[in-house]
Amino acid sequence: MSTPERPDLMESASTSGSSGNGAAAGSAGDGRHARKGSARRMDIVDLDAGFGTKTVIAGINLRIEPNAVTALIGPSGAGKSTLLRCLNALHSTAKGAFARGEILLDGVDINAAGVDPVLVRRRIGMVFQRPNPFPTMSIYDNVAAGLRLTAGRTGRHRFDETVERALRQADLWAEVKDRLRSAGGALSGGQQQRLCIARALAVEPEVLLMDEPCSALDPISTSKIEETIHALKVDYTIVIVTHNMQQAARVSDTTAFMTVLEAGQPGTLVETGPTSEIFGKPTNEVTGAYVSGQFG
Ligand SMILES: Nc1ncnc2c1ncn2[C@@H]1O[C@H](COP(=O)(O)OP(=O)(O)OP(=O)(O)O)[C@@H](O)[C@H]1O
Ligand SMILES: [Mg+2]
Repeated sequence: MSTPERPDLMESASTSGSSGNGAAAGSAGDGRHARKGSARRMDIVDLDAGFGTKTVIAGINLRIEPNAVTALIGPSGAGKSTLLRCLNALHSTAKGAFARGEILLDGVDINAAGVDPVLVRRRIGMVFQRPNPFPTMSIYDNVAAGLRLTAGRTGRHRFDETVERALRQADLWAEVKDRLRSAGGALSGGQQQRLCIARALAVEPEVLLMDEPCSALDPISTSKIEETIHALKVDYTIVIVTHNMQQAARVSDTTAFMTVLEAGQPGTLVETGPTSEIFGKPTNEVTGAYVSGQFG
């Protein structure tokens, strides 16, 4: 069994599996449901984070359920990206950054002493706003990049099954299967973003964080990525930051609204709930104003 019952964040990265289970790769299925039951719950407990002396998010408490999509919405500067980056310990790698509180992955604090940040980021993958493939690297090697890093393998080691599985999961396989050796940078923007999703999925994370993954994409690419997100939640815990209210309403089960309530103050989490309620009958009037487009 490739999936531990609890996330062991302290094991050495070099002892982790290299090629995933590859269960559906190469099979007649579409490969999207290769794994079951390994999505993880995350809990954010009393989180404050910022840079230098400036606190940019404060008092954040949020449960992120497995096998569901949680949308983080709110105006620019509310701290959505900062929160997302705290969720995979990326925030603390920035110069002067600090974070207090707990980020729990199935009850285990990802910032606890002895936890391996490389493993944290393998288990909690991230897709950024701008597609960032390695432009001169082949499509195949882009997808395999994280595998080579975490498996400690280089050069000619082949990851065919996993690369195919990840590209199928990202709904890109059909478009690239005959040109896996072409450069990643030669793909369209929407394809590049799906390539980055495939790269994130190749290492079999348990949680997938996406920071405005469609903001630079056309409606067709956007809808492909939304379909991908919808299919992925069978296996993953997904958090997506979006400024697109329709997108949040379409793809998410839970919506969390963040804002800066008073100029100069840190961003806070104003309201969280089932997406239909946040958009239909929010309890907080600031949330109502935002989701109805009256500010932000
Ligand atoms: N590296 C940094 N150093 C100092 N301040 C930063 C840094 N990165 C972000 N901030 C500040 O933190 C606050 C929150 O920024 P963040 O990027 O998390 O907001 P956001 O909600 O993601 O906004 P957007 O919707 O525009 O992406 C902002 O005031 C921003 O200026
Ligand atoms: Mg942001």
